[in-house]
Amino acid sequence: MKIKLWPRRITLRIALLYSVVFSVILVVLNASVLYGLKYYLIYQAMDQVTSQAEAIKSKLGEIKGDVNLFEKDLIFSSIPNENIYTKIFDEKGNVIYSSKRLERINIPHDVNIDIPVKIDKYDKDLTYLNTIFKSDDKVFYIQVIKDMENEYLFLKLLFILMFFADAAGIFVSFIAGYFVTKRALRPVDYMTKEVREIDAHGLNKRLKIYGEDDELTRLAKTFNDMLDRLEDSFKRQNMFVSDASHELRTPISVIKGYIDMLDRWGKEDKAVLQEAIEAIKKETLDMEHLIERLLLLAKGDNKSIKLNKEEFNLKDVIKEVAEEIKMLNESKNIVVKGQNDINIMANKKLIKELIRIFLDNAAKYTSSDGNIEIDVGKDNSKAYIKIKDDGVGIPKEDIPHIFDRFYRVDKARAKETGGAGLGLAIAKWIIEEHKGSVTVKSEVGKGSEFTITLPIFPPV
Ligand SMILES: Nc1ncnc2c1ncn2[C@@H]1O[C@H](COP(=O)(O)OP(=O)(O)OP(=O)(O)O)[C@@H](O)[C@H]1O
Ligand SMILES: [Mg+2]
Repeated sequence: MKIKLWPRRITLRIALLYSVVFSVILVVLNASVLYGLKYYLIYQAMDQVTSQAEAIKSKLGEIKGDVNLFEKDLIFSSIPNENIYTKIFDEKGNVIYSSKRLERINIPHDVNIDIPVKIDKYDKDLTYLNTIFKSDDKVFYIQVIKDMENEYLFLKLLFILMFFADAAGIFVSFIAGYFVTKRALRPVDYMTKEVREIDAHGLNKRLKIYGEDDELTRLAKTFNDMLDRLEDSFKRQNMFVSDASHELRTPISVIKGYIDMLDRWGKEDKAVLQEAIEAIKKETLDMEHLIERLLLLAKGDNKSIKLNKEEFNLKDVIKEVAEEIKMLNESKNIVVKGQNDINIMANKKLIKELIRIFLDNAAKYTSSDGNIEIDVGKDNSKAYIKIKDDGVGIPKEDIPHIFDRFYRVDKARAKETGGAGLGLAIAKWIIEEHKGSVTVKSEVGKGSEFTITLPIFPPV
């Protein structure tokens, strides 16, 4: 069985991580304090032995003649004493004075002269200094030794104290870290609960935003924004499906009506038969056209169309489409003008469809002798196509919606003009795919002007 050392709950993980970091900091900090203190105490001891030796030297200097016992006691009792002991040797190395506790310890008196040294010897930590006192007629070797027992005991105690204080500190930091993190992450628990309640049917629900502007409220806001977009696209998808079904239902009922008619009278009556066949043909074609457009829009939504772009002359393509439209609308006056030398890099089939959509509208929404003018030109790095008609125009309040799917201004006239309101939605998608733009100017009763811009090729 695999044992998981790293807990799965974020709260525990953060608390643990926090305590580990805290312990490392404590250990490093305490170790440097102990280490620093130890060296401070050693240097202090060296200082002490040095000043003790200096004091003894100056006392010895004051004594005239031989140093007798009485004077020795006087010298040494008058010196402040902190585990500091003294030995005095004469010229030949005979001990002429020794503090009692030092009898066991034998450090040569004639080494390391005038340099304080620290040694770990005789189970003791000692710091000592050898120095020489010379007067006219005598030479003394003075040895001052400090036993570091008290200092080391102090360090040991400090170490034990620090150890327990650190252990308690780490424990408290873990507990505190756990509760603080738990509290800080409480909104996440709320969020999880709330998100669980949101499903496809409850897309209108939103997360409550608690407290100030921190990471979690920002997360909740981002999540709510995402829900807004999801809900919007869900609604639009639903609307699209219901509008599309609605649009398909009309031709199907027409076809059904003609089939009924055929069934009843068509078998004998040639005229009825012909009328029905014509009508069914037209409706089927319309339906095919509608389904093709719906599929194009759906593909565009899925971003599953790969545009095969090629370089071509814009005006040539416009002329081609204009001829097509002219043939279908012979009474209308359609003029193409503008620059001949503008090329673009685009999907030719889609650009033709784009122009067809605008020209079809221009033709559809003008009177039978209406005028349609198409102007091609360039403006800085953009090619533009202006399609102008003198038809019915579009009311101001409808302009923002004409590019929406299935949007038609005059629903009553829909039957007469035909169409599902998908043309401009497809046009908008084609323009966006080619990084272009479109603007509309229109006045009811006077006409409309659509301006499309597309990036010119080669780019300037
Ligand atoms: N040149 C125009 N003049 C007046 N109204 C227009 C013009 N172009 C578009 N419109 C209005 O904008 C609406 C949307 O146009 P769109 O091309 O999307 O749909 P449609 O022409 O009604 O149908 P479809 O193009 O799917 O056959 C039209 O129904 C019409 O009311
Ligand atoms: Mg149209």
